[in-house]
Amino acid sequence: MNNKIVVKVYPDKEQAAKEIAAEIAALIRARAAEGREAVLGLATGSTPIVLYKELIRLHKEEGLSFKNVTSFNLDEYYGLPGTHDQSYRYFMNTELFDHVDIDKAKTHVPDGTVPADKVGEMCAKYDADIKAAGGIDIQILGIGRTGHIGFNEPPCAADTRTHQVKLNELTIKDNARLFFHDKIDEVPTSAVTMGVGTILESRKIILLAWGDGKADIVRKSLMDAPSEMCPASWLQKHSDCVFAIDAAAAARL
Ligand code: PGA
Repeated sequence: MNNKIVVKVYPDKEQAAKEIAAEIAALIRARAAEGREAVLGLATGSTPIVLYKELIRLHKEEGLSFKNVTSFNLDEYYGLPGTHDQSYRYFMNTELFDHVDIDKAKTHVPDGTVPADKVGEMCAKYDADIKAAGGIDIQILGIGRTGHIGFNEPPCAADTRTHQVKLNELTIKDNARLFFHDKIDEVPTSAVTMGVGTILESRKIILLAWGDGKADIVRKSLMDAPSEMCPASWLQKHSDCVFAIDAAAAARL
């Protein structure tokens, strides 16, 4: 196994979420004490919900303020406005932002509604905005069964920037099952995503994976040589990356 990635195996996702939320809270509080922003890279999907629940609990019960947080989400479906209940902007509002005191003007999700000829410009601005914010302190990632991080489907080079991508058939199927009430025709066929290169510039990366459905791809990402055919395997090149996984996702290591 490549020894640059630290693998932390938890008995269950709740315990993983508790520890990661505490680390995020410590960053936010340390930055607040210095009068500075904490810059979080955030993910959507079923995986991070448990983490967002814990962050909301820390806000409501332990006084954690998000006033000094700037956030950048990984990706958005192309063609869905933020008001659509399957858009990632809508997901972030309902799963996290609406429940804490974050300033929504400082929360960034790629815009899935820009006209086709403006996508490149919007993507370049997204990368520039991350740089202007000082870079991402902690990037949270899920992983798809294709090995995608963000919506970077294989094959994907390590140096890609924020860009538009076609979604893989397996991803479309997984997303239809999980989020689109099984209506496969309603899943958009493309998305805008931070590139792998953009993700790798984050100071720290925490990839989450729960359940035995992720065990094969977790193994491949950690143990196979980094390659375009498994975008998550590029994380082996990062010097501060943690895989926080439950026992079922760790079963094949
Ligand atoms: P999931 O998706 O959290 O719904 O499993 C992860 C991903 O596709 O990145």
